Amino acid sequence: CAQELARRDYADVVLVDIIPKFPQGKALDMNQAGSVLGHEPNVTGTNGYEETAGSDVVVITAGIPRKPGMSRDDLLATNAKIVGSVAEQVKNTSPSAIVIVVSNPLDAMVQRALQVTGFPPSRVFGQAGVLDTARYRTFLAMELGVSVEDVSALLMGGHGDTMVPMPSCTSVGGIPIRRLLAEDKLQAIVQRARDGGAEIVALLKTGSAYYAPAAATAQMVEAIVRDKKRIIPVAAYCDKEYGVGGYYVGVPAILGAKGVEKIVELQLDAEERKAFDHSVSAVKTLVAT
Ligand code: LAC
Repeated sequence: CAQELARRDYADVVLVDIIPKFPQGKALDMNQAGSVLGHEPNVTGTNGYEETAGSDVVVITAGIPRKPGMSRDDLLATNAKIVGSVAEQVKNTSPSAIVIVVSNPLDAMVQRALQVTGFPPSRVFGQAGVLDTARYRTFLAMELGVSVEDVSALLMGGHGDTMVPMPSCTSVGGIPIRRLLAEDKLQAIVQRARDGGAEIVALLKTGSAYYAPAAATAQMVEAIVRDKKRIIPVAAYCDKEYGVGGYYVGVPAILGAKGVEKIVELQLDAEERKAFDHSVSAVKTLVAT
């Protein structure tokens, strides 16, 4: 994520890690890549938070990744402690920051960051839907043999096994997906997108995906830094919205300089509503735990 942002060359990036000297090494490597790729040396590595003070945007990726056979939910207890302590530092050093959480289990970790920072929910939210939608769009492009650039889609719900891809909000070059693809093929792709993280974990064996989560998070940072007002799926705090009652869950939102500027409320059909509610109840269970 740091490298994705460094390459865009419009922000200073500070990398923090607890491993002594490790972020410093990563920062040097990225800065040296800049002399080839054409961006300024704008990355700093550190083991403390002083260098991050006054950040506009903070991305929290801290935590352990899952191993084959684990679900994201198995990371709950360990990562809640880690995300809690990072959020505490962020609250003290960058009180005006917009915070994007990436750590898993995502929806519960964002709730933790909200509790600890006490920031308004418009400034604390999570990356999940851009990644999950990216997977869904990629599989659709591969199946149809078309450019992924023309595949536009939405995915809602929690970032877990219950996530809700939305074929009714999926189109290719403006053509509704169901006019291009048979229902059984579409459902197979929906399921592959749901399992997209686990598919990579099973292949890598030593950790989870990096490139797509990083690119997805950088896209959210860009929407904020450049005040783009993009409509993208965000793990946003929903209270009255969709009748969620005060939890984080993936919904379409307008992202700009103020963070989540608006949650877009769609009329869900009966099947979508059922899947969404099921996903919300999975998030509630995690938060309660
Ligand atoms: C994934 C992890 C990062 O979906 O949640 O790849």
